[in-house]
Amino acid sequence: MDSETLSHVAQIISESEYLIALTGAGISKESNVPTFRGEDGMWRNYNAMELATPSAFARNPELVWEWYSWRQGLIAECKPNRAHSTLAKWEERGILNYVITQNVDGLHRRAGSANVLEVHGDLWATKCTECSHHGRLDAPADGVPKCPECGSKLRPDVVWFGESLDRDVMMSVYAELERADVCLVIGTSALVQPAASFPLIVKQCGGKVLEFNVEETPLSRIVDVHLSGRAGETLPRIDSLL
Ligand code: APR
Repeated sequence: MDSETLSHVAQIISESEYLIALTGAGISKESNVPTFRGEDGMWRNYNAMELATPSAFARNPELVWEWYSWRQGLIAECKPNRAHSTLAKWEERGILNYVITQNVDGLHRRAGSANVLEVHGDLWATKCTECSHHGRLDAPADGVPKCPECGSKLRPDVVWFGESLDRDVMMSVYAELERADVCLVIGTSALVQPAASFPLIVKQCGGKVLEFNVEETPLSRIVDVHLSGRAGETLPRIDSLL
């Protein structure tokens, strides 16, 4: 990563009136959280249609919970990395306004970020399949957890393929996309909608988009700057220039 590009990006960030960040699984890779489509991506080893759809849950809730429990166990052992902590520091310093994340791992909040919009939900949150109960697990699920109110099956409160995103969360997301003059896009393959289109909205509203990724993505054609490298290394280097 050449120092000229780093200084250029640091200047764009320091001159920004309203900075936001969109993050994906790549930002948690250096915390040992597997990505979905990378080299050892989860969707290379597991069938998403058997594990992350409403019909998969209807067919085999034990199998779905077994997989989410495995992910909960894995993530409970993980810690936020320097990319997460740099964004939390920028929020604290008033440089960064919001993190919009596709991740359900909760590592942004554990790093200290408060302004986080989790568009795909939260791995530890649950909701009842029958009544309006919403809850949280504080340990990996053991079997299929039951609703404390009506006794029905609980499901992970995450967004599965084919499901729409939470309306209130999306209202907040679009408000942030419109306000932003600079959007950092960190560690996402930009293949899953609607999140993959969020940076296009920032561009359409006249804002700039800065992409942080170890490889090019479909977004790389439209971004203002593509920073090739691991986010846990690139973000702290930019922070040192602010
Ligand atoms: N730093 C920056 N980028 C990285 C790093 C790193 N250390 N390691 C990997 N990446 C990049 C990869 O090159 C890839 O472009 O992170 C991206 C991860 O892409 P995906 O695995 O597709 O994850 P994501 O884009 O978050 O997936 C979107 O798909 O499966 C669904 O709901 C799931 O939220 C997820 C959504």
